Amino acid sequence: MSVVVSVHSFRGGTGKSNLTANVAASLARAGKRVAVIDTDIQSPGIHVLFGLDGDDVHASLNDYLWHDTPIRDVAMDVTDRVGLPDGGRLFLIPSSMKPGEITRVLREGYDAQRLTSGIRDLVSHMQLDVLLIDTHPGLNEETLLSLVLSDVLVIVMRPDKQDFEGTGITARVAKELEVPRISIVVNKTPTDFDPEAVAKRVTESYDCEVAAVLPHSDDLMRLGSEGIFVLRHPDHELSARYHRLAERVLPGGNVGAD
Ligand SMILES: Nc1ncnc2c1ncn2[C@@H]1O[C@H](COP(=O)(O)OP(=O)(O)O)[C@@H](O)[C@H]1O
Ligand SMILES: [Mg+2]
Repeated sequence: MSVVVSVHSFRGGTGKSNLTANVAASLARAGKRVAVIDTDIQSPGIHVLFGLDGDDVHASLNDYLWHDTPIRDVAMDVTDRVGLPDGGRLFLIPSSMKPGEITRVLREGYDAQRLTSGIRDLVSHMQLDVLLIDTHPGLNEETLLSLVLSDVLVIVMRPDKQDFEGTGITARVAKELEVPRISIVVNKTPTDFDPEAVAKRVTESYDCEVAAVLPHSDDLMRLGSEGIFVLRHPDHELSARYHRLAERVLPGGNVGAD
């Protein structure tokens, strides 16, 4: 049985794509079959973390949404490209970086129901242990539909009042949609904040579990999305935190075990 995990945030730039790619790599490194789908069609980006340029993306989610390309044919196996050891597998369903295709989304929108059918298709045909959905920030139709399919919602926020308010809204909507598990990750936390105090405040505010409080990291900024941190810096303290987060997202994944 596959676990579907939506990674969302109310506002942009919280670190969703980096978190999604690192959790995905962590799980694949532990032997899982993992797919990541980039549903941020209006501002795609996660392909970069997997070492791809827009020109490397020959088939995209857009081809599935607007043409008749089966979604399974869009899934790229990036296991070797990112340098994962044998065992697990990592797939990416990228969004198009072609300007014409992005502006078409802005102009015409797309059939969000078709996106959910595609997600169901991936889950039933790719024998995945986990499918991670990297979403467009804010609440919109496709996010709501993907929440309905999700076993776990991870809401990423910064310790910032604007994020606090928006996260409350997302958490409330997800509860109404009866998402089985809602987990919050506080990211980019100043290193002189007490993570336990931050976690306590967030838990009390939303009555949701806090899966991780991750620090602001100059080393992650320095990598600048040119790779997956846990694979580039396997012995870094932040990598250990991503592994622990992956273990919480998919209990029993034996993440981090070499
Ligand atoms: N914990 C962190 N510390 C410092 N910078 C971070 C952290 N997490 C993400 N970033 C940086 O924040 C920026 C936005 O990250 P990204 O993952 O693209 O966010 P989103 O997908 O939510 O827009 C990137 O430059 C990334 O390197
Ligand atoms: Mg993103």
